[in-house]
Amino acid sequence: MPVPVDIAPARGKLGVLLVGLGAVSTTTIAGVLAIRKGFAKPIGSLTQMGTVRLGKRTEGRSPKISDIVPLASLDDLVFGAWDIFEDDSYAAARTAGVIEPSLLDKVRPELEQIRPWPAVFDQRYVKRLEGPNVKKGANKKVLADALGDDIRRFKQEHNLDRLVMVWCGSTEVFMIESAAHHTVESFERALEANDPAIPSSMVYAYAAIREGIPYANAAPNLSADIPALVELAARTKTPLAGKDLKTGQTLLKTILAPGLKARLLGVDGWYSTNILGNRDGEVLDDPESFKTKEESKKSVLDYILQPQLYPDLYGHLCHVVRINYYPPRGDNKEGWDNIDLVGWLGYPMQIKVNFLCRDSILAAPIVLDVALFLDLAKRANMHGIQEWLSFYFKSPIHAPGLYPEHDLFIQLMKLKNTLRYLKGEELITHLGREYYD
Ligand SMILES: NC(=O)c1ccc[n+]([C@@H]2O[C@H](COP(=O)([O-])OP(=O)(O)OC[C@H]3O[C@@H](n4cnc5c(N)ncnc54)[C@H](O)[C@@H]3O)[C@@H](O)[C@H]2O)c1
Repeated sequence: MPVPVDIAPARGKLGVLLVGLGAVSTTTIAGVLAIRKGFAKPIGSLTQMGTVRLGKRTEGRSPKISDIVPLASLDDLVFGAWDIFEDDSYAAARTAGVIEPSLLDKVRPELEQIRPWPAVFDQRYVKRLEGPNVKKGANKKVLADALGDDIRRFKQEHNLDRLVMVWCGSTEVFMIESAAHHTVESFERALEANDPAIPSSMVYAYAAIREGIPYANAAPNLSADIPALVELAARTKTPLAGKDLKTGQTLLKTILAPGLKARLLGVDGWYSTNILGNRDGEVLDDPESFKTKEESKKSVLDYILQPQLYPDLYGHLCHVVRINYYPPRGDNKEGWDNIDLVGWLGYPMQIKVNFLCRDSILAAPIVLDVALFLDLAKRANMHGIQEWLSFYFKSPIHAPGLYPEHDLFIQLMKLKNTLRYLKGEELITHLGREYYD
């Protein structure tokens, strides 16, 4: 019989440190405040609405996830944020334009209290942005220490018990792993030497992981996904998750592609295009930031369809992803997909998807779930890369030598089995022979 994992209780307050106070962050914060007051429902959040089946199908046991594992309550969350703009979270939410003013006004006093601390920012990594609320420091190590001071002050002022950090900042330019990223020592030397190989997101990740604060990356840039920071996380027993929230078009791709592959339907082409008018869209209009996003969005199909195993079906797949910055749409993205399918005897078919989505409305419940699950992981003494949270990400971070699991349904099974494991319940394999023996 499996035994439950020892999990420390979710006692006291949980500080949620958000890097970037833009559309995703403000939609998360305002959403949590509105839900707390009963103005809205936490739709899209597994931690708030999800259930998990325990035992056999005949047992009728499907408790809420929040009833089987000790998660921080929404009432115990306290938000803090950094941004290069000085707007408080009410003003930032108005700029983002995701949540309607009538709902924002109901939580306005609480939103106005969240004023961003000066950011660690360098335009070298996000070309399209410039703002006044930026820290100065002799080198990146000094800047990381300044972030540490913000975190300590926040913890003290709000009498917080625990913390998590989520990078909800803009997508940085495309970078690949380099020598500075190899070990904790080379990384710390590079911080002191102001090495350009260390973008701002790594400075934040370092500041969190050094203190054992769980860290997630909602954007596609490398951030904590380098050997030095994974090694530091092992030393400080810090859980990590990332990268790039799986919302919108990629969410649909990871729902549709496993279905097509399950029926062994071939795919010759998958053309995806988007129009997006928020600040994220503006940042992604820069080719270097777009490259980071493109890599993240494109990897999904290769891993799901496995062309190396099915060369006749997917060996010639042409996969194109475009994002066009189109201001009139704001956060209300529109995505079009054209899928060129191949069926029995090679007969062609097509699927057209037109998704009128709201990016940050899809992203906010993920930020909430990831923050609560990372806090759970920390209290359950699970550290390093949390593969069970790959459910939430476009480019799940994974151990070297492994390929990432992109299929949403396998990811969900992994997540729920992790919860069963924590609870000391039998894992569900879906073999099901026992019902017929
Ligand atoms: N909206 C979605 O559904 C979604 C999905 C997946 C990934 N993402 C990613 O999440 C991130 C946030 O998205 P968004 O729509 O909120 O964008 P946004 O532009 O509205 O917000 C990002 C904020 O980060 C701030 N920022 C940038 N660099 C910073 C730094 N170094 N320190 C502190 N603040 C910094 C910017 O000033 C801005 O206010 C983006 O990288 C985006 O690609 C968003």
